Amino acid sequence: GGGGHVENFDFPFDGPFGTYDTNQLQRGLQIYTEVCSACHGLKFVPLRTLADEGGPHLPEDQVRAYSEQFEVFDPELDDMRPGKPVDHFPVSALENAPDLSLMAKARAGFHGPYNLGINQLMNGIGGPEYIATLLISYEDAPSCAPADFPGHYNTAFTAGGYPEECKDEDGHHMYPGSWIAMAQPLSGEDVEFADGHSNELHHEAQDVAAFLMWTAEPKLSQRKQAGFVGVVFLTLLSVLLYLTNKRIWAPVK
Ligand code: HEM
Repeated sequence: GGGGHVENFDFPFDGPFGTYDTNQLQRGLQIYTEVCSACHGLKFVPLRTLADEGGPHLPEDQVRAYSEQFEVFDPELDDMRPGKPVDHFPVSALENAPDLSLMAKARAGFHGPYNLGINQLMNGIGGPEYIATLLISYEDAPSCAPADFPGHYNTAFTAGGYPEECKDEDGHHMYPGSWIAMAQPLSGEDVEFADGHSNELHHEAQDVAAFLMWTAEPKLSQRKQAGFVGVVFLTLLSVLLYLTNKRIWAPVK
């Protein structure tokens, strides 16, 4: 990414104390399973982690049932068998669709201000915001583009093809974004959620982006907790050292 406009979605895991929302991750998993997995893979994600607390937290029997939908080659059997929780999600089914395991960390939505990193501390680096924005940023191609120009016009995607006809005399792009090989995968009401949660496009995009943030950083909640304990501990230590220092030097003064 970079350059395209990225909307700042409010994610429950934003900010120094943010954590994942289990229900949101489960909805995101459903969207991923029913829509994205037709083309994309998650090859670095072990299926068993779907049971993790702080993650989608599915019951063990559901994780087993989920795993069994995949056919896996087992070198020990020298044959195919149904997937198990120890296996990983499959690789991408479509050759030019990138694996999405780490995509939320491979893309950044916010660039700067670099000085204090306050924006990054409060909002993260914007990977999931970029993914959610990408999914809602398909538009009709501007009329300058030849009808047969390959790809789909997306105002958030900047790494794709761009027709010469849509550049000005200086070679600058006259319209934001570029042309992406992925056709618009979500249009709203693509899935039905068991909990009746809204399946408007904006919500679906946000939920699947949250799920992909979890696949990219499954220990985010634990990391933030450990960081908080560390800061409290160091603050306490600083106070004790200050007092100790005063006492040691008291006779000299
Ligand atoms: C690329 C997400 C469904 C085919 C991508 C990228 C993301 C993404 C984040 C990378 C964009 C970048 O490089 O910055 C998703 C999500 C989906 C979904 C969340 C489900 C809601 C699909 C489906 C297909 C597909 C169903 C195939 C029919 C592709 C292809 C690319 C791509 C071919 C490469 C595009 C390019 O580099 O021009 N997708 N995708 N995706 N996706 Fe999807």
